[in-house]
Amino acid sequence: MNSNAQTMSNFICPVCGKGLTMTPKSLVCKNNHNFDTAKSGYTNLLLSQTVKTKNHGDDKLMVRSRQAFLDKGYYKPLLDLIYESVKRHAFTGARILDAGCGECWYTANVYEYLVGHKITPQMFAVDISKDALVAGAKRNKEIELAVASVFHLPVQDESCDMLFSFFAPFGVEEFGRVLKDGGILIRAIPLERHLWSLKTAVYDEPYENELDDLEQAGFDLIEKQAIRQTIHLPCNQDIINVFTMTPYYYKTSAQDQQKLQALQELDTEVEFGLLVYKKR
Ligand SMILES: C[S@@+](CC[C@H](N)C(=O)[O-])C[C@H]1O[C@@H](n2cnc3c(N)ncnc32)[C@H](O)[C@@H]1O
Ligand SMILES: [Zn+2]
Repeated sequence: MNSNAQTMSNFICPVCGKGLTMTPKSLVCKNNHNFDTAKSGYTNLLLSQTVKTKNHGDDKLMVRSRQAFLDKGYYKPLLDLIYESVKRHAFTGARILDAGCGECWYTANVYEYLVGHKITPQMFAVDISKDALVAGAKRNKEIELAVASVFHLPVQDESCDMLFSFFAPFGVEEFGRVLKDGGILIRAIPLERHLWSLKTAVYDEPYENELDDLEQAGFDLIEKQAIRQTIHLPCNQDIINVFTMTPYYYKTSAQDQQKLQALQELDTEVEFGLLVYKKR
């Protein structure tokens, strides 16, 4: 995991902020705060008082659907764009954090891509969903994983060279805290008409996604790219998976969801923005 002789974790203690040492079954700080590492390989560093509401993140069904859908390569064009942006800024030993990693499809693929290009980063990732990390831990054992919120990262100030936020809650102030000066923040977002035909198949009056202000205080936006394509979904399972992996799933009535059961194929738009920021 971490080649450092002291086997220090990439994470810090969420209680006292000291460094965490890896033991076979837990992470422990010098004040003896101890956090069990699950058999699957992630450590829970989320303190109950950290999250105000009961946010458990994505559940098993969403995770399974996303895993099945992403593994079919429908979003590979975005992954290719991410590879290029990351490679421009990464170097061996770079500390790269994926904040809201889900089941680590991007995290693990980017890690393997960099290693394949003779760049070995120190990669670690957080998500608030245990179910996501159970799946993520199977993808690559070199990536250290913790349950944590992107709004309260158990990570030392100014310790990261690069940070990813792909389709996840955007804790920009916290990202600014943990990135070094000049550190790189790479963000992927859905654009206005992402999955438009899927939405029109479900909703009588679909709405376009609203885009946040792209400028972020404390950061310079140094790269901005967009992908707009149509993908062909050739079977009902893929249609159901892409719908179930999005938050629409839980916001949609059973009656509207039912409309997808009859669809055996669908062409739908996929529209992504990839934004690269540099911390001032
Ligand atoms: C749409 S998924 C994206 C996952 C992954 N980055 C990807 O693109 O495949 C959003 C993820 O954010 C996680 N999440 C939601 N709220 C969070 C929070 N406050 N802190 C960390 N992760 C959170 C969810 O559990 C989910 O895995
Ligand atoms: Zn501690």
